[in-house]
Amino acid sequence: MSFPVHRPRRLRQSPAVRRLVRETHLVPSQLVLPAFVREGIPAPVDISSMPGVRQHTLDSLRRAAADAAEAGVGGIMLFGVPAVRDAVGSGADDPDGILNVAAAAVAAEVGDALVVQTDLCLDEFTDHGHCGVLTPSGTVDNDATLERYAAMGVAQARAGAALLGLSGMMDGQVEAVRTALDDEGFSDTIILAYSAKYAGAFYGPFREAVDSQLKGDRRTYQMDPGNAREGIREAVLDVEEGADIVMVKPALPYLDVLADVRAAVDVPVWAYQVSGEYAMVEAASANGWIDRRGAIEESLLGIRRAGADAILTYWAVEAAGWLRERL
Ligand code: PBG
Repeated sequence: MSFPVHRPRRLRQSPAVRRLVRETHLVPSQLVLPAFVREGIPAPVDISSMPGVRQHTLDSLRRAAADAAEAGVGGIMLFGVPAVRDAVGSGADDPDGILNVAAAAVAAEVGDALVVQTDLCLDEFTDHGHCGVLTPSGTVDNDATLERYAAMGVAQARAGAALLGLSGMMDGQVEAVRTALDDEGFSDTIILAYSAKYAGAFYGPFREAVDSQLKGDRRTYQMDPGNAREGIREAVLDVEEGADIVMVKPALPYLDVLADVRAAVDVPVWAYQVSGEYAMVEAASANGWIDRRGAIEESLLGIRRAGADAILTYWAVEAAGWLRERL
């Protein structure tokens, strides 16, 4: 009878040993809560495809931000749902536009307890639902959109956002917004580039959350799901243009891209666990088909293990509570 020389099970024998040798850790400050605020509603509205997530009023958003700060979450990423839309997304850079008003309100509510972040993209504000302005023939006009993003970035910084999330996937957007911010004296405003943002089905529930007007798809600007090397190239270009943080989105179907980007750049790399990832787990657990908490914790850990320094997740506050139980 010979005995195995190598016994990896030795380090799995008890919770105490497993905790001691665990390689990957997650703490509440590595979680960012995405939150929706809608103009002109008297009370919060539930999002049916995202059970537990709501479109906030300004008041309920302020309370949600305070709760997130209390839970030790690292930041809040704001998305605005305006009452009126037009072809160029005028509400996006209007200081009285819902997202800018919300950024100011949240900044006043939480001060430095949370990093206040705003989505910088036109899709919520345009009547056609695309992330940029259109040419007469109806394609998204990259360079004309850059001017809109620059104005939007300055408006968001002026409103009090500390970090801008550039999610529109226009070429040159980081440089355009960085230059405009610096020209207006906002050299401390942080740029998070959604560098490798893939077009696909996992944003479905988000479209309900922001009452999206989009017909068709975003495949001329968001990336093709088959391309990993191109994701690295996008991240490297964004760092060259001045991005402080880069992101991969969605998270779970793109963990390979996340790991590759982590290896290719030395800035922080974040991941966005998007609405479809949230909805899948919620729907399966509502049917009793999956252990909800286990699936959430495992997916967050997997995203972190693949290389994310921080994660945008709709479960941020709840997961932060679980993580604190263990400290
Ligand atoms: C664009 C934006 C989208 C998401 C975040 N920023 C929608 C899109 O690209 O279609 C999706 C986030 C999610 O699905 O949770 N403003």
